[in-house]
Amino acid sequence: MSNSSPSARGALQKLRSWRNQKTNVCRLIHGAADGWNGLYVDRLADYLLVQTEHPLTDTQQQTVQTLRQQFKAKGVYHKRLNRQVQKTSKPKASARLIMGIEAPEFFEATEHHLRYRLSFNEGYSTGLFLDMRDNRHRLLSNLIELGFPVFDKGTGAAKVLNTFAYTCSLSVCAARAGAITTSLDLSQKYLEWGRENFRLNKLNPDDHDFIYGDTFDWMKRLAKRGEQYDLVILDPPTFSRSKVSGLFQAKRDYGRLAGSASALVRKNGMLLACCNAGSLAPSDFKADVRRGIRDAGRKIVQNFQAMQPLDFPVSENEPAYLKVSWMRLN
Ligand SMILES: C[S@@+](CC[C@H](N)C(=O)[O-])C[C@H]1O[C@@H](n2cnc3c(N)ncnc32)[C@H](O)[C@@H]1O
Repeated sequence: MSNSSPSARGALQKLRSWRNQKTNVCRLIHGAADGWNGLYVDRLADYLLVQTEHPLTDTQQQTVQTLRQQFKAKGVYHKRLNRQVQKTSKPKASARLIMGIEAPEFFEATEHHLRYRLSFNEGYSTGLFLDMRDNRHRLLSNLIELGFPVFDKGTGAAKVLNTFAYTCSLSVCAARAGAITTSLDLSQKYLEWGRENFRLNKLNPDDHDFIYGDTFDWMKRLAKRGEQYDLVILDPPTFSRSKVSGLFQAKRDYGRLAGSASALVRKNGMLLACCNAGSLAPSDFKADVRRGIRDAGRKIVQNFQAMQPLDFPVSENEPAYLKVSWMRLN
């Protein structure tokens, strides 16, 4: 495990402890990097979510049972890891109850004292990508790292465009930090879920914009209108198919995406580029993003590459997949 200094281990233990008051969602076992090849276990408030490619072995069952007791989990769900998610139907992709009692259709989780709506019944994902926790916190605290804030202080409310917004958790953090947000997604259902996440955190969704549509199409429209943002967020899926813009493949199209987004970033504003496609090497991702920004006539004047969070440790057999670049553009 790479994040293994004594202080990092202490922070990891705290995060993974059931006593943590401000955050009750985190990864408890991250595959080979935690000594459990092929086993991934998340704590989601009162429930556990176990993911494996194959049915659970007896040893895995026992480990999960122990975790269930330790966390007093009401129920445990299992999901078969599927590398071909886009071809899987919703009931097949959803998690299945294997121990304890069923979760309500929607339940709540807490992260950094903020509240999010989760569900096991809404397809492959549960509503919150746990590996983006540190980046949500960077937005919430307006601090990427020492001396590198997301937004300038004293220039009025910042404007944020969150493309591929899903359930709008990054928008919630930006809004709680004082920004006016626009969340864009190809799914009405997820945008409505996002509005609910705003309400859960005492934010009025009517004070923010939610656009149902295709990112590529809307970035063109917003650029035509002369819209400029203090921060544009890109966190696309590995693949996506849209009636308007066709097939998007992170490996092939990220540079083009970063270029279109750069045109919407105001002078000295920020671009946040994220990618969870394991098949895209960090060096290729970096090169693609830089090429896109350069082709748009912009320059990176400050940048920070975020690591996977402590509960998603990296090892030789569990390589890093998440790439996150915070960039200030001239
Ligand atoms: C990986 S999730 C984004 C995660 C999100 N940024 C977060 O941190 O919670 C991908 C999202 O992109 C949306 N999406 C896929 N293709 C899209 C497109 N062409 N335009 C807009 N949204 C799209 C999906 O509906 C889904 O909600």
